[in-house]
Amino acid sequence: MKTNLRIAAILTIATLVFVVHLGAAPAAGLGQAILTPKPPLEPRINGPSVYGGRPGHPFFYRIPCTGQRPIDFSATGLPGSLKLDRQTGIITGSTPNQRGNYVVTFGAKNARGSARRSFKIVVGDMLALTPPMGWSDWYTRYNRVTDALMRQAAEAMLASGMADFGYQYVNIDDCWMVKPGAKDPELDGPPRDASGAIQPNHRFPDMRALTDYIHSKGLKAGIYTSPGPLTCAGFVGSYQHEQIDARTFAEWGFDLLKYDWCSYGTVGGKTLEDYQKPYKLMGAILRGLDRDIVFNLCQYGMGQVSKWGGEVGGNSWRTTDDLGLRKETKLPGFYSIGFKNALHAEDAGPGRWNDPDYILIGYLGNAFKSEESPEPTALNGDEQYSYMSMWALMAAPLFFSGDLRMQYLDDFTLNVLCNAEVIAVDQDALGKQARIVRHTDDEFVLAKPLEDASLAVGLFNLTESSKPITVTWRDLGLRGGHRVRNLWRQKDGGTVDSQYSTRVNRHGVVLVRLIPQ
Ligand code: GLA
Repeated sequence: MKTNLRIAAILTIATLVFVVHLGAAPAAGLGQAILTPKPPLEPRINGPSVYGGRPGHPFFYRIPCTGQRPIDFSATGLPGSLKLDRQTGIITGSTPNQRGNYVVTFGAKNARGSARRSFKIVVGDMLALTPPMGWSDWYTRYNRVTDALMRQAAEAMLASGMADFGYQYVNIDDCWMVKPGAKDPELDGPPRDASGAIQPNHRFPDMRALTDYIHSKGLKAGIYTSPGPLTCAGFVGSYQHEQIDARTFAEWGFDLLKYDWCSYGTVGGKTLEDYQKPYKLMGAILRGLDRDIVFNLCQYGMGQVSKWGGEVGGNSWRTTDDLGLRKETKLPGFYSIGFKNALHAEDAGPGRWNDPDYILIGYLGNAFKSEESPEPTALNGDEQYSYMSMWALMAAPLFFSGDLRMQYLDDFTLNVLCNAEVIAVDQDALGKQARIVRHTDDEFVLAKPLEDASLAVGLFNLTESSKPITVTWRDLGLRGGHRVRNLWRQKDGGTVDSQYSTRVNRHGVVLVRLIPQ
């Protein structure tokens, strides 16, 4: 039996290699229409137009920019404490000591043309002025994560072009620490040193070297722990070691912390105060560090976290249980998670985001297998467009958690993840989450006001066949003529002045930006 399995695995790998060699996309997006045109060869600067940092803290930012390399970058008006590498577009140094707004103009020039873009650095208390974007290893690596795999992920984020669209954080989820009672010697060992500092397991020989590597690519590094004695996967948590762990994460050079409730229920109570306590504690510790660490709360929405997550120092908070564990009903699981998350629109804003969980498309791993076994998402193309549109309209943190390796990251998946106009809706500086315009058994309509007075509108068809969907200006609170920009196709439609109607595929979406004329 085992031999048969091995032969089957070898055959599968051989087929995959063959398919990749032929240049065809593997099955994740097979047969699905790629709607978005490829970015042009001339430079296009992407990413947010505002960025928050605390005074005097380490600063680094890689200007996300598509276009043919080499590109010559410039940054006019850059504060004296910051320095740009013109070749890579990576800015390093420290945030100015003086609070206030610093308006910089980025430039990018190549053999084909040039681009400019304004970028405001807001020096103050707030981080994550736009929703954080990146990759988390969880749904690919589970308890198989290693230093080498995280380095490969950072490399893949550049090689795939994702970083040029603003994906920035490379996050280690659970399972980097020691697992008490583990049979696997790689996961075993003393959980803490004599001073109480947490020790990574043998798969992470040198955390500082790992974050240095990730930073050298212009990317940021995220880490994970639990306020409980153990993480959800049974690894060592931070209970009663909150101070020392936060300091250790800062010394190691991490830029984001996911703080996952997990076993905290075994040591804490169930009142609102109990729910807040561990996050308040860690939030205060993080604020006192000499490093900017974006704080991601993960406690599945208990005690209406969206109402107080920001007050305890959170920059984002999961509003529901795990998307990956969701049982599919009539519609795939991301819809019900999205519907729930959409209810908290008024609690979101710059520096404080509702988090409906990772983007699970492309190839995903399996928690229950000891070996890697990436499998394509069961979502069809229309469902994937709906997923990404809903997340962008809800100003959700955009963390892809599928396989980043080139043989699994097919063109269709990349097209869903990397549409600059869709991402711009998510990253819009106004920081508003879309409001629910309509939610019936058949239709879901979201509308997100944007900084330039335009309105992003998503029309989702929840039925089993294609149908027309209409929104009136009265539904949307609009007046007068608006140009219709189809964001997935990046194409202008006509001007409309009292309603917008369109046919939408089964389980699909039409995502438009209505621009006042
Ligand atoms: C919980 C979280 C997931 C992931 C796992 C890790 O289930 O919700 O996102 O972090 O723990 O064990």
